[in-house]
Amino acid sequence: MSTKKIQAALLGLGTVGGGAYKVLQSQKEEMENKLGAVVEIKRILVRNLEKAAKKVEDPSVLTDSWEQILQDPDIQIVIELMGGLEPAKTYILAALRAGKHVVTANKDLLAEHGKELMDTAKEMGCDLLFEAAVGGGIPIIRPLKQCLAGNKIREVMGIVNGTTNYILTKMTQEGMEFQEALAEATRLGYAESDPTADIQGLDAGRKMAILASIAFNSRVTFADVTTEGITKISAKDIQYARELGCVIKLLGVAKNTPEGIEVGVSPMLIPQSHPLAAVNDSYNAIFVVGDAVQDAMFFGRGAGEMPTASAVVGDVFDVVRNIMHNCCGRISCTCYKEIPIKRPEAVKNKYFLRMRVENRCGVLASVAQVFAGNRVSISQMIQTQVKADGQAELVFITDQVEAQYFQDSLTVLNSMSMVYKIPTVIRVY
Ligand code: NAP
Ligand code: HSE
Repeated sequence: MSTKKIQAALLGLGTVGGGAYKVLQSQKEEMENKLGAVVEIKRILVRNLEKAAKKVEDPSVLTDSWEQILQDPDIQIVIELMGGLEPAKTYILAALRAGKHVVTANKDLLAEHGKELMDTAKEMGCDLLFEAAVGGGIPIIRPLKQCLAGNKIREVMGIVNGTTNYILTKMTQEGMEFQEALAEATRLGYAESDPTADIQGLDAGRKMAILASIAFNSRVTFADVTTEGITKISAKDIQYARELGCVIKLLGVAKNTPEGIEVGVSPMLIPQSHPLAAVNDSYNAIFVVGDAVQDAMFFGRGAGEMPTASAVVGDVFDVVRNIMHNCCGRISCTCYKEIPIKRPEAVKNKYFLRMRVENRCGVLASVAQVFAGNRVSISQMIQTQVKADGQAELVFITDQVEAQYFQDSLTVLNSMSMVYKIPTVIRVY
């Protein structure tokens, strides 16, 4: 009996597309045993045929025509690895409407237009799988949708951007400058083509929108996520964090609270004893807190060619199994609730605050009075340096306080002549 062949098309042959191609080629011999079928890459959509020819065994599979793929009835699976909103959205919707199953790693698109894509897949009875969109090689979408389906999930938090984790690790462990560490992360294929999305926390914000939607069964889009990047973190902050027994990580935190869903990404101090403090380089880790499972942690390579390709190919295998068993579209959109998003001003956090002030009697008392007047309670305070120019540096850690009250106290402090500068404010987990 001849082996069943399932034909697929790759859109994009960059970092992840190139990796997915390699993994699919390397699995050729195994596929039949694993799946009872073989996946054949019939077409690869690229922009530059000549450049791409060096990357494939048979350049005749390359095309620069999307129509050629869309119109081919033998192509059952489209693997979108171009990135960006357009033309990826148009191509994915067209593929689904043509009855083709889609695998994508495109978190930008899912975080903004996930509902439309999922609704279309459901309507057409097609698979739309996106395990690689969050956490690179780490399985997290499927565990949330399937293995942890019996839980009411209260919190999902963690390190979901490999580039920034790599940069912060190099700054912490090797004293590397920000720009040098960013260049290294880009060379290793962790960073997006425009790394602004990584370093400003936008990439992590998109991933948190996807995670929160699935974890809480209620649609969260990128616009609902508050984001802050790591560009203002200095060697001095890292040093203070160390003195306080902490490290600085870019954390995504999503909570399902009685007042609604809160979801944000920001640099945070976490104690060195916390398991996430040991998650370094391009590794990602995601904590899930559920009512039945209690705590579960998922850890692994969060970015890069082969780890991300591993997740893409896992999805392709799942689609093939569904095709073989005639059960495509069995796990579609899981957002069946409409939970409100909590106002960012009402979200509570502890804060680390570094300020330069005039070094004279009564300044500390005045600063403390501002905090007290705005319901900000101080948990820890250090005055480490008195400078030759008469300035003193004060570092505070607050107790939990609503963002609005904390911002009010900052506004007053910034208006006081005895406060010269507040260079850093960082949340504390
Ligand atoms: P990349 O290296 O920039 O690759 C994208 C490829 O798509 C490039 O080769 C580009 O061609 C091609 N492309 C773009 N628009 C196209 C079009 N209209 N027609 C044909 N080809 C087109 O990006 P990547 O890092 O592989 O990322 C791909 C996707 O995976 C993104 O959605 C990203 O967010 C996601 N992702 C990436 C990682 C990672 O570690 N890199 C991890 C998880 C998820 P040119 O060479 O001509 O520009
Ligand atoms: N640029 C992303 C990161 C790739 O650094 O995590 C994985 O999504």
